[in-house]
Amino acid sequence: MITVPLDKKKHKRNLFDCGVDALNNHLCLMASQQSDKDNTRTFVLEDMQNPESIIGYYTLTMTTLDLSLLPQKLQKKHKNAQSGGLIARLAVDKKYAKQGFGEWLLIDALKKLLSASNTVAFPLVIVDAKAGAKQFYEKFGFVPFNDMPNKLFITIADVKASLKKSD
Ligand SMILES: CC(C)(COP(=O)(O)OP(=O)(O)OC[C@H]1O[C@@H](n2cnc3c(N)ncnc32)[C@H](O)[C@@H]1OP(=O)(O)O)[C@@H](O)C(=O)NCCC(=O)NCCS
Repeated sequence: MITVPLDKKKHKRNLFDCGVDALNNHLCLMASQQSDKDNTRTFVLEDMQNPESIIGYYTLTMTTLDLSLLPQKLQKKHKNAQSGGLIARLAVDKKYAKQGFGEWLLIDALKKLLSASNTVAFPLVIVDAKAGAKQFYEKFGFVPFNDMPNKLFITIADVKASLKKSD
């Protein structure tokens, strides 16, 4: 399996339905425009039998770091850092849910961010979990920021270690 950049001429964005309007609308209306403007990048996993159909997608960008929301030890370690990688969106179409595609997409997104961090170093990957998805991220080692239960992070060091383990 491989993710490819969203291609509005090829992919049937309006057929995608993950059950969350904001995430469907982002894919349909915003993702391509935002990529054209170099604000975010969206990658999709195509259905191999029918490559215009999108199994799932994620959108990546960078975000500012609020160090005060991190545990003390990490605040100290990363006191000079200003940005983190952001998984701005991640969703799987309901037709393909519960078959491991969400996990596969999350790992693929983390691999891309790890690779980017080797060039433009940043210490954390951040995600804003939509209602009900927090535990999905916690399963993969993300932890909530102080006082922000639905905003989670994982360190690049932990991403590197867990991807190495799974190789
Ligand atoms: C959350 C989502 C991406 C999961 O995708 P999926 O393909 O159904 O998930 P997977 O089949 O890869 O599940 C992987 C593991 O995570 C678990 N999991 C999946 N969704 C979960 C959730 N919402 N909460 C807790 N655990 C979850 C699965 O049980 C599975 O665990 P297992 O390996 O122990 O069986 C998908 O349900 C989705 O797109 N939901 C709507 C959009 C959304 O909330 N996206 C997150 C945006 S921040």
